[in-house]
Amino acid sequence: MCGIIGYVGNRPALPILIEGMRRLEYRGYDSAGVALVDQGTVGVTKSAGRLSVLEQILDLTATQTTGIGHTRWATHGAPTDVNAHPHQDCTGKIALIHNGIIENERALRTYLQQQGVTLTSETDTEVLAQMIGRFYEGDLEHAVRQALHEVSGTYGIAVICADEPGVIIAARKGSPLIIGIGKGEHLVASDAAAILAHTSQVVYMDDGEIARITADQVRMTTLDATPVTKKIEEVEWSLEQIELTGYDHFMLKEICEQPAALENCLRGRIDLGDGSIHLGGLVDCTRELTRAKRIILTACGTAWHAALVGEYLFEELTRIPTETEYASEFRYRNPIIDDGTVVIAVSQSGETADTAAALAEAKQRGALTLGVVNVVGSTIARAADAGVYLHVGPEIGVASTKAFTGQVVVLALIASYLGRRKHLSATAAEQFISALARIPHQIGEILEHVDAAKSVAQRYADRENWLYLGRGYNYPVALEGALKLKEISYIHAEGLPAAEMKHGPIALIHEGMPVVVIATAGTQYDKIISNIAQVRTRGGSVIAIATEGDRQIAEQADHVLYVPDTVEPLQPLLTAIPLQLIAYYAAVHRGCNVDKPRNLAKSVTVE
Ligand code: M6R
Repeated sequence: MCGIIGYVGNRPALPILIEGMRRLEYRGYDSAGVALVDQGTVGVTKSAGRLSVLEQILDLTATQTTGIGHTRWATHGAPTDVNAHPHQDCTGKIALIHNGIIENERALRTYLQQQGVTLTSETDTEVLAQMIGRFYEGDLEHAVRQALHEVSGTYGIAVICADEPGVIIAARKGSPLIIGIGKGEHLVASDAAAILAHTSQVVYMDDGEIARITADQVRMTTLDATPVTKKIEEVEWSLEQIELTGYDHFMLKEICEQPAALENCLRGRIDLGDGSIHLGGLVDCTRELTRAKRIILTACGTAWHAALVGEYLFEELTRIPTETEYASEFRYRNPIIDDGTVVIAVSQSGETADTAAALAEAKQRGALTLGVVNVVGSTIARAADAGVYLHVGPEIGVASTKAFTGQVVVLALIASYLGRRKHLSATAAEQFISALARIPHQIGEILEHVDAAKSVAQRYADRENWLYLGRGYNYPVALEGALKLKEISYIHAEGLPAAEMKHGPIALIHEGMPVVVIATAGTQYDKIISNIAQVRTRGGSVIAIATEGDRQIAEQADHVLYVPDTVEPLQPLLTAIPLQLIAYYAAVHRGCNVDKPRNLAKSVTVE
């Protein structure tokens, strides 16, 4: 969704802003704009459409050294030139970029209109810019502080003023902002990717904080003007990780990175000698966790599918009753949180609005909260009582791939960590951990046979309806495979527990309809073979995902994609890979923009 970048220093700001905005493109956007401070004026240039459209109307030789840039994903008002950020107050002196939503926008708009202010856009952001303008009497920081006292909702903002060149005021509530620390220069951004080319030293802003940023100094205070001292931290991501490095798309890069990403995720956390697990983030709450009577996993989209695998893992390894809830439903349905409930929020970005709100709701009701998050320092990571990072590196492709497998690995680690403290035997834990340690290499083996998945994808890429079937641990993978296909190739796909097919969806099956069936070795193998027969009898074309060495399946299915053998609870980590590849190659074959699918944003930071 929306992205923020700001620069103040000694170099021309514009190229830095454009490069930062380009690095934010992956988040999804539909308009873009910049504002530069210049000798008593603020120059704003903005337009609907891609960054390349904006570049055509910018004076790329501009030398101003203070500026802000924004990529907008429309919420309030259509994606037009006028609604694009930055927005200005009526004097034109102040320019503001904003991520988040001002909830009392209507009341403030009416107030401003009564004061004779003419608003030019439909956005909540312009309302905030005008409010800052109303309070401005020569001190931008003070005016921002006053305006924010009048506002309810969420914001990450960066503001500049014609009368204060060399100053950016940033503030955060519910929408992430980091400050990049350079030499004689500072940056502000909503995402580390935007500033990594310049610095990896950052300060994470917390909710309720305001920063006054100049080339030489960052001064942080609370909304009530109490000074705050912040720690400078190192972003662990490298520039190379956010670049394509020869791949056609980030999605493919991230699929192929999974062996290394999961090695990284497991590093230092498992001891194959004694089967023990070390999760530093859980040390302080281990006693409370072990006493949990109930676990609720909450998440959205792909993270929800990973959480569903987690539910099965937790119940099997810990015997603690576990449920998986859509974060958007959990937060609004008066959930029962009793003594002994642990709520685990699963999120790649750590910024998904529904998941963050679900976590806040759980916390407010007294649950112990954990975050299973990839982005260090993100909202969910900071809000949770404890947690475990994925450490799979930045995920740029909108379609989540390595974060899914990273989430499943971390949930498997937590489940066995807890399981060992409950009833899981040392031998069983050791076997499980050894199988987990083999997963990265096994994914590498699957990736050696990319062509098989590619040819299946290309063969069926013109079919508009697909079914995905799985049982047990592979049921969430069926859901995930269907989501992957639909979000990047715009093919309608449905994932189902295989046995449910006969309760209705079987009516859809017709000659040549692609039906992906996850039919790996395990307790339900015979049953899934029967499901395959039911599909084929009705003319469906079966693409089976099977365990290496299973010759029988080749007679039952039209196509077979093999994965190595592992214990049943870890099969999702392998069976997900061919489904990611099928989705990727189908989308490429259909000429879709794989990394930036229509209507989608990487992090959904609004409801
Ligand atoms: O950052 P999160 O893991 O919280 O994001 C949750 C979903 O928005 C995300 O997984 C989404 O479903 C992906 N586009 C799926 O590929």
